[in-house]
Amino acid sequence: MIEIVRPALEHLPSYKAALERGWSPDNVRLLQATREQLEAIEKDPVEFLASLDDREAKGPPITLPDGTKVPRLPGFRRWIWDGEAAGSIGFRWQKGTSALPSRVLGHIGYAVVPWKRGRGYATEALRLMLDEARAVGLDYVEITAKPDNPASQKVITANRGRLVGRFFEDAAYGGAESLRFRIDL
Ligand SMILES: CC(C)(COP(=O)(O)OP(=O)(O)OC[C@H]1O[C@@H](n2cnc3c(N)ncnc32)[C@H](O)[C@@H]1OP(=O)(O)O)[C@@H](O)C(=O)NCCC(=O)NCCS
Repeated sequence: MIEIVRPALEHLPSYKAALERGWSPDNVRLLQATREQLEAIEKDPVEFLASLDDREAKGPPITLPDGTKVPRLPGFRRWIWDGEAAGSIGFRWQKGTSALPSRVLGHIGYAVVPWKRGRGYATEALRLMLDEARAVGLDYVEITAKPDNPASQKVITANRGRLVGRFFEDAAYGGAESLRFRIDL
C-alpha cells in the first residue's frame, strides 16, 4: 500500500509537484513552509534533502508561528509514498528521555496530500514510524491533535494511542486547546 521513504532525489519531482499544488507538509507553518521548501529545492536539492535527516540537530533553529526561534531537536522526516508523493511524517525527540519540552507539540507529526486522504495512509505511516521511534530507544511517544481534528485522532487511536490530557498550546502557537495522546512502545 504505502511505504515511508527516506527522501531522495528520485522522489523529489513528485514531492515538488505536491507542494506546487498548494499542499503543506507542515501543519503549523502551512503555506509559509511550502514556499520555503520550494525555494530550498530550487536553490540546492541535495542540501534540501540532507536537511530532512538531522539526527544530531545540526540544522538552524526552529521558527515558531510567532517568530520566536528555539533550538532544534534531533529528528528526521520520511515521505509517505505510494509510487507518488502522498504525504510527510516527521519524528523528533530529546536525547536520553522520552519527555519533550512544552514548546514541542508531540514527537510525531504527519500530513497527507488532500487528494489521497481517507485511504489509511496516515494510519499506516504512523505504524511504520513507531518502529523507528522504538529503534531510537524511547519508551513512549506523545502526539498532539486538536479537538476539531477527528481524522488525526483516529490515526492515533488506531495505533494504540490513549488520551492522556488536554492542554493549552504555548502562546507562541496561539494558545489553542489541544489533546495529548501517548503510545507506549
Ligand atoms: C489527519 C490526516 C493526516 C489523516 O490522513 P489520512 O491518510 O486521510 O488518514 P487515514 O485514512 O489513515 O485515517 C483517517 C481516519 O479518520 C477518519 N475521518 C476522516 N475524516 C473524519 C471526520 N471528519 N470525522 C471523523 N472521522 C474522520 C477516517 O474515516 C479514517 O478512519 P477509519 O480508518 O476508521 O475509516 C489528513 O487528514 C491530513 O493530512 N490532515 C491535515 C494535516 C493534519 O491535520 N495533520 C495532523 C495534525 S495532528
